[in-house]
Amino acid sequence: MAQLPVKKKRQPPASLPANLQHCVRFPGVVLCLVEKKMGLSRKAFLVSLAQRKGFCVEEASSERVTHVVSENNSGNEVIEWLKRKGSPFLDAVGHGIALLDLSWFTESMSTGQPVEIEPRHRLQVAAHAKELEGQCQVATYACQRRTPLEHNHQMLTEALETLAEEAHFWGSEGRCLAFSRAASMLKSLPWTVRKIQDLNSLPCIGEHSRRVIQEVLEDGESAEVERIRRSERYQTMKLFTKIFGVGVKTASRWYQEGLRTLADLQAHHTKLSKEQQAGLLYYEDLSTPVTFSEAETIGQLVREVVEQCLPGASVTLTGGFRRGKQSGHDVDLLLTHPMDGQEVGLLGKVIGQMDRQGFLLYHSIHRSSFQSFEDEAQEIRDSTTAMDHFERCFSIFRLGCFPGGIPRSASEAQRLNNAVQVSGTPGSWKAVRVDFVVTPCSQFPFALLGWTGSRNFERDLRRFSKHEKKMVLNSHALYDKGKVCGFWGRRTGGESLWYGVGFLLMIYISVSYVFCLFAC
Ligand code: UTP
Ligand code: MN
Repeated sequence: MAQLPVKKKRQPPASLPANLQHCVRFPGVVLCLVEKKMGLSRKAFLVSLAQRKGFCVEEASSERVTHVVSENNSGNEVIEWLKRKGSPFLDAVGHGIALLDLSWFTESMSTGQPVEIEPRHRLQVAAHAKELEGQCQVATYACQRRTPLEHNHQMLTEALETLAEEAHFWGSEGRCLAFSRAASMLKSLPWTVRKIQDLNSLPCIGEHSRRVIQEVLEDGESAEVERIRRSERYQTMKLFTKIFGVGVKTASRWYQEGLRTLADLQAHHTKLSKEQQAGLLYYEDLSTPVTFSEAETIGQLVREVVEQCLPGASVTLTGGFRRGKQSGHDVDLLLTHPMDGQEVGLLGKVIGQMDRQGFLLYHSIHRSSFQSFEDEAQEIRDSTTAMDHFERCFSIFRLGCFPGGIPRSASEAQRLNNAVQVSGTPGSWKAVRVDFVVTPCSQFPFALLGWTGSRNFERDLRRFSKHEKKMVLNSHALYDKGKVCGFWGRRTGGESLWYGVGFLLMIYISVSYVFCLFAC
């Protein structure tokens, strides 16, 4: 992954050609004169003047150049000229290599030494042509941007995400959102931010984020971010909120009560819910990232149990793994059946069977939170939040690490699982967070899109639908408020046509979405 360049002083040339050494008085300065508009004879005159004064002058093909001098050219014209010459230092122009007007050269010649570079000497380059192109295309909504899993701004995004997390720990959701938006914007840039001015034309980067970015660009770190990372509250909040079932409010209350470690929770007999007790018991495993192959193994095991419970039903691995991430904090599975209504009762059966087979260390089923169909229709039309109303189960899965490789069937897994349990070899299995979500087939495309994430992408997709398309999108449906019959997501009488159109549209979005890998 490309690391962010920290502002460095350019090293003076290690050695100079022998024939030049006698006349070089300023070894840290190597001039390159741009002949464009200057003409070859004038260039030859200026080169010999500079050499007489003790300056080293080389061509645009030299890697030792530190100062590029031109006459009557704009910064961008010089960049273009250097590009045509195949100059090896093009990327460092403006970040170690100075791009200067002839005025700096003439002043240096008349004083007999390189004068200090002032802003008036510098040729302004808004951005490289490629960068300019990229900057113009940066969209405001995350769902319009391509966000690769690997990007060029790791140090910057980590700093901004620490600030977002800290804001979240204080309950400042607005600030949290602002920092995560700025981080998400940086992740999508196909070029590298090297100086603060590179951010000028970008949306979603507020004053505070800018300040922190500038600090990291110039000093390699931000004092504010480092202070937060070292702070006792931040570290404790991070520790507590990583416990399954513990949110910011509980963690903050425990911190106020003086608790600092997991041992403190036990020592103070802190009242814990069943979920939190399980979270604490399997803390180490649950804070170890889940790998893609572990997620696939779990998906396959669940698929077999589901097939036994309801032939034809499907299990889809979603969340970060569907975006191409190689590790995550949990496994998100969507269950459905090709016939609407057939999925009712499926979750209870699947969870019951897996529990009996010893696959579940903890589980808690939440029924669909719709009270009635009217409720559901109303909520689907109005809700633009990430919360959905599907039946679901939050669980801790017991994933055996089978020495002979991944078991071929659920029954084999169970046999091996029991064998491991009996022999009790420590470390031979791992606790993994698994979320099961059941959706009727007619809402599946919306649920799949909603559960694929990232959170930033989903939030902006809903905002985009609302503000740009005047539609409501959530994990149940895409609803066109401007149409009487624009309810795409549930088959009810004459709405079948809309359902069909909606379904195709969402499949299209989902497929194109998989080809765009996005992180955040
Ligand atoms: P996760 O929290 O699992 O995130 O939610 P993730 O992207 O998979 O990342 P890791 O790797 O596990 O940490 C997955 C998606 O499911 C949606 C969220 O919007 C997120 O984009 N989601 C989550 C819901 O729609 N509803 C929920 O109740 C929870
Ligand atoms: Mn996940």
